[in-house]
Amino acid sequence: MENALSKEARNICQLGPVVPVIVLEDADDATPLGEALLAGGIKVLEITMRTPAALAAIEEAAKIDGAIVGAGTVLSKADLLNAKSAGAQFVVSPGFNEDIIEAAKEADMPLLPGAITPAEVMTLRSAGFHMLKFFPANTAGGPKMLQAFGSVFTDVSFCPTGGISAATASDYLSLSNVSCVGGSWLAPKDQIADKDFAAITNLATAAAAL
Ligand code: 3PG
Repeated sequence: MENALSKEARNICQLGPVVPVIVLEDADDATPLGEALLAGGIKVLEITMRTPAALAAIEEAAKIDGAIVGAGTVLSKADLLNAKSAGAQFVVSPGFNEDIIEAAKEADMPLLPGAITPAEVMTLRSAGFHMLKFFPANTAGGPKMLQAFGSVFTDVSFCPTGGISAATASDYLSLSNVSCVGGSWLAPKDQIADKDFAAITNLATAAAAL
């Protein structure tokens, strides 16, 4: 049976077709970037724990009215607890291990764990996780792999990420076991560096309409 943390992650994934995967070098960009994405209709923001600025960025983004802010690239229990303290409402991991699952349960933190093999899907499903990240989507078999998963894992849904673009997102979104896709194309490094947030709103508007 699907556990409460997975159900909550599923609800978040169903809020829109695309979750932006955000990498910020400067926490000061979090508010204008988040507001630009929201202005385009994208409410769920995944800020990855890949930079020293990540926690401060989560803290800032969490203050934006209407934003649902999560932490991505959560690799350990410490990452998960730090993300929670910063105000993250959910966490995403490229994979999973016992520590992360236990930490999510202890902290009551919605978790979107990653799986790319049938054995991983089965392990997570047995632990009550039926809403999974599929990363790196393009290299791990793309839409064909997810379609094949759909025939056997009829009660598991996915958020594929990794190598997905505005042009290929629909190939995934048309599958019945895909709730949303994730991608960094909505928050391009260059446009963040140039503070071209109007361009980011345009990307978000296009993504929200997918
Ligand atoms: C992720 O963490 O989900 C990926 O790094 C996103 O991949 P992308 O940069 O290819 O969109």
